[in-house]
Amino acid sequence: MADMGLDGSNGTREHMDPPCTLSRVQKQKLIMKLLSRKATCNSHGQDSSYFLGWQEYEKNPYHEINNPDGIIQMGLAENQLSFDLLESWLEKNPDAAGFKRDGQSIFRDLALFQDYNGLPAFKNALVEFMSEIRGNKVSFDPNKIVLTAGATSANETLMFCLADPGDAFLLPTPYYPGFDRDLKWRTGVEIVPIHCASSNGFQITEPALQQAYQEAQQRNLRVKGVLVTNPSNPLGTSMTRPELNLLLNFITEKDIHLISDEIYSGTVFSSPGFVSIMEVLKERKCDINTSQVWNQVHIVYSLSKDLGLPGFRVGAIYSNDEMVVAAATKMSSFGLISSQTQYLLSEMLSDKKFMNKYMKENQKRLKQRHQMLVSGLDKVGISCLKSNAGLFCWVDMRHLLRSNTFEAELELWRKIVCDVRLNISPGSSCHSTEPGWFRVCFANMSEETLSIAMGRLKTYVDSITNINTINNHRNAKSSRRRSLTKWVFRLSFDDREPEQR
Ligand SMILES: Cc1ncc(COP(=O)(O)O)c(C=O)c1O
Repeated sequence: MADMGLDGSNGTREHMDPPCTLSRVQKQKLIMKLLSRKATCNSHGQDSSYFLGWQEYEKNPYHEINNPDGIIQMGLAENQLSFDLLESWLEKNPDAAGFKRDGQSIFRDLALFQDYNGLPAFKNALVEFMSEIRGNKVSFDPNKIVLTAGATSANETLMFCLADPGDAFLLPTPYYPGFDRDLKWRTGVEIVPIHCASSNGFQITEPALQQAYQEAQQRNLRVKGVLVTNPSNPLGTSMTRPELNLLLNFITEKDIHLISDEIYSGTVFSSPGFVSIMEVLKERKCDINTSQVWNQVHIVYSLSKDLGLPGFRVGAIYSNDEMVVAAATKMSSFGLISSQTQYLLSEMLSDKKFMNKYMKENQKRLKQRHQMLVSGLDKVGISCLKSNAGLFCWVDMRHLLRSNTFEAELELWRKIVCDVRLNISPGSSCHSTEPGWFRVCFANMSEETLSIAMGRLKTYVDSITNINTINNHRNAKSSRRRSLTKWVFRLSFDDREPEQR
């Protein structure tokens, strides 16, 4: 079939009426004029190196047999370590995925179900699971949860509920690159960075919070809240109690909101354990019915990471504010979780014995895989920020940069993607303020693939170390030659009569 032209013709001269003489740029401009500003603006962030790395990977994906020289995907925070456990549960519980309850078909009920409040059984199972992850130190009320199509939708919905276009949310850096899309793109909300630094392990400080607040004010932006990820993407660290208390003090003082994206809460694999903002709020003993701060804190959760189910699109907002719950529930019509997914997962999550076993085993596997990455990097002289959670490490490659700049970071990143063929995410895509940090994922591949990735990195680092050694050697030689020349010159100079000098 002949290719269709942009004008809908088959591209041959006689079918073009009027003759299509527009250049590519002109055509692009015409299309832009026909579409909305939202559809054509680039605040989506798709041109970030985070997404460009994925595109490179798509062109040449690694496969152990079909494409062993391809790019290994280490830029995707997916958890593929415990699928076997989920699959064996599915085998033992065929009714859950087979539209059946106690052997009887519930296909018709599921097919017709369209209540945006969600299946009560699923909401009950989800809140209990969330309490379980928090060691049952806090409990959640199923009436305060709103179901969404993943955390992506939960975060955007909260923006729509809490802020107007042009308002700002403060986010500690480095942050998850997807937030530029999720929080800003369709809502018109602005992100103002809270600058965090390696000197204190990227922890949030009071001066950094105040500075971000002032920066927003200088830009004439009304600050509506702070959004944190706990545990952090991309740091892989969980927040400390003092940090969480600092945040609660700050939002109380400024009378703004706090969103805690706890999507990685079940991935904490070593101490210190996970502390949810809800736990700290509860410890403060402020009355849930009278204290305003309870209404200012909102949790985002999803099963994309802890259960490794990003394709199922299961997320949630938890809020004590009735108006937020009501508004978000209405908005959730635009991104509901399908009824068969809710049914399947309500069965799985309420099998507590299985879920406990799954969570323990999954954390054990994450810990092993994390250790494998950390020691593999260590052998090559690369260190990571000490971390205890998540599906990635925050890796320090500052010593491999040509200069302490983001240009040098991108130059190194391009080499690692194109020559070493590992897709990792440069810190600049996470809005890091220090060049030379990279997010490297470890849970979306097999052990064998991870070890191949480490082998490739070693070859690369050894090669640049050799080049540097040769260059240093050359530099040393030429500097010896230069000092010898200077010395000979000085000698001959000193030998001369003063007037000859
Ligand atoms: C911190 C954070 N929030 C939200 C998301 C989006 O998750 P979901 O797949 O549930 O939409 C991600 C995904 O990587 C994430 O890391």
